Amino acid sequence: MRNNYDNIASLYDRLSRLVFGRAQVNVQLDLIHTIASNSRILIVGGGSGWILEALAKLYPQGLMITYVEISANMLRIARNRYYGNNKVVFVEQAIEDYVAAPNSYDVIITSFLFDNFLRSKAEKVFRHLTALLVNEGRWLYADFYLEPQKKNRWKKGMLHLMYKFFGYVCRVEAKKLIDMEPYFQENGYRVLFCSLRYFGFVKGIVYQK
Ligand SMILES: C[S@@+](CC[C@H](N)C(=O)[O-])C[C@H]1O[C@@H](n2cnc3c(N)ncnc32)[C@H](O)[C@@H]1O
Repeated sequence: MRNNYDNIASLYDRLSRLVFGRAQVNVQLDLIHTIASNSRILIVGGGSGWILEALAKLYPQGLMITYVEISANMLRIARNRYYGNNKVVFVEQAIEDYVAAPNSYDVIITSFLFDNFLRSKAEKVFRHLTALLVNEGRWLYADFYLEPQKKNRWKKGMLHLMYKFFGYVCRVEAKKLIDMEPYFQENGYRVLFCSLRYFGFVKGIVYQK
């Protein structure tokens, strides 16, 4: 299966910290402060689930979380995380196959997910997720970022190496980063908050629908 992180599940977090320090973690911690208590949250491609512990620290109870992850090995690790008195439903499925009623969620979290997708998949997943989010709901989006006006040489070099590595190990389908910002703009999302880490290579945005 494409984009499945089974083969690297036990190593992924350590690898991320080795290459990016805490940038990928911190950018997500920057975003989750903006969640209202008692929210219904959809986490897509949450990986090993460290974010469940981070959420429980901020919100020990009242959250209703659906955790959709394609990798069984990632889910196994995530299920053993401490998530306080929040309610978590774990779903082992590709998000494009996950069915829920429209407007089911107040918050959607996608971190380092869309960088795995070809444009066609990214568009499909975007449409799918936007239908699941209530009006005025928040989409916490984090991913790699290339500044449009700049050459971004070292960042493109790093992306190239990452796509080679994850293409081989996890059969990641993408070969280049899709800029998702135009999709949010065209669909009437408003930027509420923005955070840049790792010399601007890692970006987190809180969008409001
Ligand atoms: C790069 S990892 C990021 C993990 C986590 N969000 C983090 O920041 O540590 C991407 C995750 O998305 C999952 N994934 C990829 N495609 C998916 C899909 N279509 N549906 C659900 N999960 C997916 C992978 O298995 C992997 O765990």
